[in-house]
Amino acid sequence: MNPTIQLEQQYLVHAYNRAPFVFTDGEGVWLQDDAGNRYLDLVAGIAVNALGYGDAELVQVMQAAASKPLHYSNLYHSQPMAQLAARLVQVTPFAERIHFQNSGTECNEAAIKFARKWARSHFGEGKTDIIAFSGAFHGRTMGALAATPRPKYQDPFRPLMPGVRLAEFNDPDSLAATIDDHVCAVIVEPVQGEGGIHPATPAFMSALRELCHRHNALLILDEVQCGVGRTGTFWAHETYGIMPDILCAAKPLAAGLPIGAVLTSGRVAEAIHPGDHGTTFAGGPFVTAVANVVVERVSQPAFLRHVSETGAYFQEKLQEINSPHIIEVRGKGLMLGVQLDMPTAPIIQAGYQHGLLLLNAGADVLRLIPPLIISRDEVDIAVERLTAILTKSA
Ligand SMILES: Cc1ncc(COP(=O)(O)O)c(C=O)c1O
Repeated sequence: MNPTIQLEQQYLVHAYNRAPFVFTDGEGVWLQDDAGNRYLDLVAGIAVNALGYGDAELVQVMQAAASKPLHYSNLYHSQPMAQLAARLVQVTPFAERIHFQNSGTECNEAAIKFARKWARSHFGEGKTDIIAFSGAFHGRTMGALAATPRPKYQDPFRPLMPGVRLAEFNDPDSLAATIDDHVCAVIVEPVQGEGGIHPATPAFMSALRELCHRHNALLILDEVQCGVGRTGTFWAHETYGIMPDILCAAKPLAAGLPIGAVLTSGRVAEAIHPGDHGTTFAGGPFVTAVANVVVERVSQPAFLRHVSETGAYFQEKLQEINSPHIIEVRGKGLMLGVQLDMPTAPIIQAGYQHGLLLLNAGADVLRLIPPLIISRDEVDIAVERLTAILTKSA
């Protein structure tokens, strides 16, 4: 057995099923294992590696940042953090202030706390409930987990955080029947990721905004997976013509380093005071120096155009695959889902034999979330390999 795999099997908690090889290198959208096999990456570390592997500018910025203090905590000011906050506000019309975190889950926890604090400071006690939706994924800690209605994730860990109500995704009537004045926030992914790559409908997003206004509830957008260029606009919600009160971003923001950012409107930020919420590592100078590069690069119109054009091309090519196993191709930009009539597990396994990294979203949806720098030629290679797999699989 591969010695790395042997060590992991002996010493790691068995909380993951990992692929049967060990990566040692990567370039662009390609990863290489320790036996020299190359894989075209349609996973990007789960929608993280937007700029791919070995990006020269990132390497240079990291080398410079590595020779300075890596961490000094939120007790002190930090130039790269201040610059990143300003940059995020500049590219986000509704946002006036930023609070940094270390992951997507932590952002959602912070958003829930901010919403409760905001509601308490304006309306007193009793306005503490959160609405989440069927198919949602917001993370695995106790608050975010309560808003992630999947029995497999929730049941072994009950009791969950109280005060979370569920409504049907993409069903304005269900939300209207669920919301009232005791709700302080509604949390939604503009494009559901883990739940199977389901974009929200424009009518649903408009209804969300309107119902939140009517009941003095904050609209929290979880753009941890669909944000930062993934769908072809910097934020996924931009195409809906609505603005949230809070937005959570994470995954690609620092090119593979752990980061999260909670973007808030001014009225939400006003409710938060020193000591209300905090973390040791978040917003550190190394990680924010890197994130500045990501935001600067991804927010360029030409970069976003590349994502939407390459995504549309990818979607078109997927639709041309003549396989009885494909029921539907859906998604936005480079966040694509292929609904199959069979489990994804054997397809993902077959991908490894064909040098193609694939991911699922639920049991029967293939999730294609490559580095955003993928070229048309690389899309062609991916589609060719996927076609070979999907037309062969029984
Ligand atoms: C929409 C969404 N929210 C939150 C999370 C949790 O983020 P993290 O794994 O960085 O804690 C994820 C992770 O997949 C996600 O897709």
